[in-house]
Amino acid sequence: MGNEGIMRRKSVDDLICVSNDKPKTLGLFDLTIMGIGAIIGTGILVLTGIVAATDAGPGVIYSFLIAALASCLIGLCYSELTTTIPSSGSAYVYSWITMGEQVAFLSGWTLLGVYITTTATVATGWTGYFTSFLRGVGINLPDSLTLSPFNGGVINLPAVIIVLLITLLLTHGMSDSKNVNNFLVLVKIGIIVLFVIVGAFHVNTANWHPFLPYGVRGIFTGSATVFFSFLGFDALATSAEDCKHVQKNLPIAIIASLTISTILYIIVSLVMTGDVKYNLLNVPEAMSFTLNEINQPLVAQIVSVGAILGILAVILAFIYAASNIAMSMSRGGFLPKMFSHLNPNTHTPNGSLWLIGLITAVCAGLLNLKNLATFANAGSLCIFFIISVAVLLLRKQRPDLERPFKVPFGKVIPVASAIVCVVLLMNLPLSAWMNYIGWLFIGVLLYLGYSKKHVTY
Ligand code: ALA
Repeated sequence: MGNEGIMRRKSVDDLICVSNDKPKTLGLFDLTIMGIGAIIGTGILVLTGIVAATDAGPGVIYSFLIAALASCLIGLCYSELTTTIPSSGSAYVYSWITMGEQVAFLSGWTLLGVYITTTATVATGWTGYFTSFLRGVGINLPDSLTLSPFNGGVINLPAVIIVLLITLLLTHGMSDSKNVNNFLVLVKIGIIVLFVIVGAFHVNTANWHPFLPYGVRGIFTGSATVFFSFLGFDALATSAEDCKHVQKNLPIAIIASLTISTILYIIVSLVMTGDVKYNLLNVPEAMSFTLNEINQPLVAQIVSVGAILGILAVILAFIYAASNIAMSMSRGGFLPKMFSHLNPNTHTPNGSLWLIGLITAVCAGLLNLKNLATFANAGSLCIFFIISVAVLLLRKQRPDLERPFKVPFGKVIPVASAIVCVVLLMNLPLSAWMNYIGWLFIGVLLYLGYSKKHVTY
């Protein structure tokens, strides 16, 4: 135990030794691919056009750059913590060590909420591409089965089914999931490269004028929204127990996947706003729309199919991350023990996977996409703030720990990262805060009713 009293902290050494009973299956390539798999998804495929049209114009590239910079600062902080304490619990574990039991529980609870809502958002976005593809081949699914009750339907059935199928895949073990994931990510990168190559020949530079139709303010509003496009780099930290040479590979993978995604986002934004005037891009399938506008319907259809496949990788990465958090919280006694039991054949926490899969399926089927997404942003930013502070606290509390990766320039980057999180949090809508506080309230009830009595040191 770290210390006594209401702010009881966990000892780092206890946490590190529980992490060694899983086979190490993920190398640098797999990790980077997994990072890209989690990062590139609904954000670039859906949000780029909408933000260009309504917030930032062609200057959406600056929105992406600001969001990327914030993500890199946070990614560096994650790297220091995750290489010092390689545990699947991520922020939940780091806060237990540095800030005590209550913050740990709320961090873990927030992470579960964030990963569930991000997955549900992405699954809902996936339904959009899927139904539009089906329409293209003459199959019309009724709205009642493809929209949530908040959007005039009964249930978003495709989203429910895809979440459950991916959960089933994950219960078969990391090797199977890794191969499927690698394939899906390559398809996703493939369609983006295809879009860029075909689109680049149709750029009309006149479309980039005015470059900042909504002024500098639009860039910042846009960056708060496109921040969602970078969520996922943090999910990599939860794979610490499955990594080979975690100390070296994980920081490289986090920064590499962020860099590759940023470069792709910027190029896609430039091509998109160069091909089509920004004010026409307020559509959910901006890439296919752009290709159709430049008379490339076949390429547009290929990109749609690729998007349907590629978005699956995001769902896979986030269900995997959420199940790791649930497993970790169960090990600590915050959740029942059945959620940390590993299947002897597949070494997967199937109890956790099904818990997460089922809750996500319900959210994806029944809830409103916009509320899900803003909840995910609010919760993520709170977690990123905690991560930044935890770096500073751990350096102070345990200067003796070996730090295979240390964020350079002393306190500057963790402090800058914490400030960026607060600034972005202040720009979120009130509804996001209300939903997040509601989730925390349920968490407090669970903590007082169950976790407090079962937590183990
Ligand atoms: N970054 C992920 C996406 O854009 C959540 O879909």
